[in-house]
Amino acid sequence: MGEILTIASGKGGVGKTTLTANLGIALSDLGFKVLLIDADIAMSNLSLLIGLENPPITLHDILLGSSSAQDAVYDGPNGIKIIPSGLSISNYQRVDAERLISVAKSLISDFDYILIDAPAGIDKNVLSAISASTQVLLITEPTSPSVADVFKVKIVCERLNQKVLGIVVNKVSSTKGEISEKEIMKMLELPSYGTIPYSADIRESFLLKKIKPILIHNPNSPSANSFRYIAIRLSGREVKVKDEKKKSGFFSFLKRLFSKKK
Ligand SMILES: Nc1ncnc2c1ncn2[C@@H]1O[C@H](COP(=O)(O)OP(=O)(O)O)[C@@H](O)[C@H]1O
Ligand SMILES: [Mg+2]
Repeated sequence: MGEILTIASGKGGVGKTTLTANLGIALSDLGFKVLLIDADIAMSNLSLLIGLENPPITLHDILLGSSSAQDAVYDGPNGIKIIPSGLSISNYQRVDAERLISVAKSLISDFDYILIDAPAGIDKNVLSAISASTQVLLITEPTSPSVADVFKVKIVCERLNQKVLGIVVNKVSSTKGEISEKEIMKMLELPSYGTIPYSADIRESFLLKKIKPILIHNPNSPSANSFRYIAIRLSGREVKVKDEKKKSGFFSFLKRLFSKKK
């Protein structure tokens, strides 16, 4: 049985969609069967990033009860599958978000990982995305407002009896005043699954006419490697890095690992 991993943050714009797409591709490259679900049913971006244009059936149709989940599963890059969200505002207002729970559970026997891209905030759509999961992975920026908001989501998960796996710290730039990964772990009492640098490459991968996840746009960049590292940790293929000085050795280790034929 696979895992249903919901990626949530509280605050918007911290990188949930970026993490969902790139982690999905990294897990697929490791040989896992991966489905992404865009559960940001109001402000969907995931299909744009994955390169899926105007899919005829979407999560909106499933949540309205007019289509079955299997009808909305599309092919994405590197072998991943995706259920896109719809764009219609009126459909968004009519959907029954709680249906997501049975949708994810009905598909999990076909996949190793279902990654759910949650909306921002803690409204009923977020609660459904969290309740549909077997595990929640939180993401934050290294700033106080972002950490405060993700802390709220952690509390919501605990109230829903949902397991929080840990935290990913995104947009790390080592600017003075940034909260360190260690401090964030201490504040949230959660393990970290890795950090992702603030990177022009990732920004660019959203700005280009043809938007692409960084793992496809620039697969050899350090930021692409940070998503691979998170995928390795998640899948239990633990890689131990003792200290920062070992970083370059670690990246060459990753390079060796990913250049191996499956
Ligand atoms: N590590 C990063 N470095 C630079 N820009 C990033 C990084 N992660 C995400 N972004 C940018 O931040 C914006 C919001 O990211 P997104 O994944 O859509 O956030 P969310 O889904 O949480 O709202 C996008 O323009 C994206 O390219
Ligand atoms: Mg998003």
